[in-house]
Amino acid sequence: MAAMVYPVGTVTNALGHLEIGGCDVVDLREEFGTPAYIFSVEEMRRRAMAYQSAFAAHTDNFEVLFASKALPVTAAYRLFAETGLSVDVASGGELTIALAAGYAPERIYMHGNNKTDAELELASNAGVGHLIVDSFDEIDRCERVLKEEQDVLIRVTPGIKPSTHTYIQTGQLDSKFGFGLEDGTAAKAIERVLASDRLNLVGLHFHIGSQIFEIEPFRLAVEALAGLRGDWCRIVDLGGGLGISYAEADEPPEIASYVDLKIASVREFFGDDVRILIEPGRSLVGTAGVTIYTVGTIKEIPGIRTYLSVDGGMSDNLRPMLYDAEYEAIIANRAGDPAERVVTVAGSHCESGDILIRDVTLANPQVGDILLTPATGAYGHSMANNYNGMPRPPVVFCENGEARVVVRRETYEDLLVRDV
Ligand SMILES: Cc1ncc(COP(=O)(O)O)c(C=O)c1O
Repeated sequence: MAAMVYPVGTVTNALGHLEIGGCDVVDLREEFGTPAYIFSVEEMRRRAMAYQSAFAAHTDNFEVLFASKALPVTAAYRLFAETGLSVDVASGGELTIALAAGYAPERIYMHGNNKTDAELELASNAGVGHLIVDSFDEIDRCERVLKEEQDVLIRVTPGIKPSTHTYIQTGQLDSKFGFGLEDGTAAKAIERVLASDRLNLVGLHFHIGSQIFEIEPFRLAVEALAGLRGDWCRIVDLGGGLGISYAEADEPPEIASYVDLKIASVREFFGDDVRILIEPGRSLVGTAGVTIYTVGTIKEIPGIRTYLSVDGGMSDNLRPMLYDAEYEAIIANRAGDPAERVVTVAGSHCESGDILIRDVTLANPQVGDILLTPATGAYGHSMANNYNGMPRPPVVFCENGEARVVVRRETYEDLLVRDV
């Protein structure tokens, strides 16, 4: 079991069962069924505090924003609000959940490359602190829709490409997000917003991508942005993107060194007085969550491969299909047994591509075993879908041996509730 891939405190107990947040996975399956998303509350809190204290060691002029697209669950918003984090929402839906969770509107930052009239009205009526403006059409729309003056940041694509999957690179000129630096549109957007009587420009934003292990691109992005700064620039928001360990071999930078570099870069290129914002998503919740499944069938094709099918798949974890994301797995009810059999973990959906993990070595898996995939806390629940009429799994928070459902399992009846 690779420590970095699992939440802190994950152990194999005397029965050979894995324990997450002090809860035995066999008991969790008994109580909540499978598939289920299981989270360690301690790990989420620990990571939020790691961000907060890394900043607090240098400055009090900062805000850590929970990028809520990674886990848009009311209980997660509440937990991060309690640890002092602000929040980034990317749609009217995420905004609605953040408000329902009790987030103070002034601590909400709203993103989106195509915010609708209705979303802008919702944000404005709620008193959302900041909008991150993404396009000239949005500026026009804000001027038409907003009734009050609104603080905004401008999203810039600084032309920096980190090494990560192309689908999660977002800082290059050729992107649907933000205003280009290289082609001069960012400078034009600044002029345009400064001339607006509805929008009050207070800062700049970039987000160069996700699952990033090299920290130097963040410094290059801050340097690139510095040419745009002016007296109005009181906030620099450096987005999210810090990578996590999906597999034992992955060694992402420590939260503290990542924060230190971001602070040093802003101080170097923007001076000491700007407020520094960051928007971690994956690195707050990714390794805090695991998914448990029940093994349903094992099909051996001699000389070719063995397919082990579980009772979930692309409906609860889309990332392998979307980004070729790779995961590890363990037979969690026999976590101490040596892993010796190579299998391909397939989901239950009507797609040959519904493969969760290719070639993973497991402890002689049997029908009925609990297969657990670690590091599935980010973008699993939020990208879950009902393909093949699959009800979405529950979200269970575990802490000190206590488990509580924070999002219940969907039922077959739920699949019919929108019918008219
Ligand atoms: C604008 C913005 N901020 C923050 C994030 C969070 O990124 P991550 O989960 O990689 O930290 C994203 C992810 O897509 C994003 O688009």
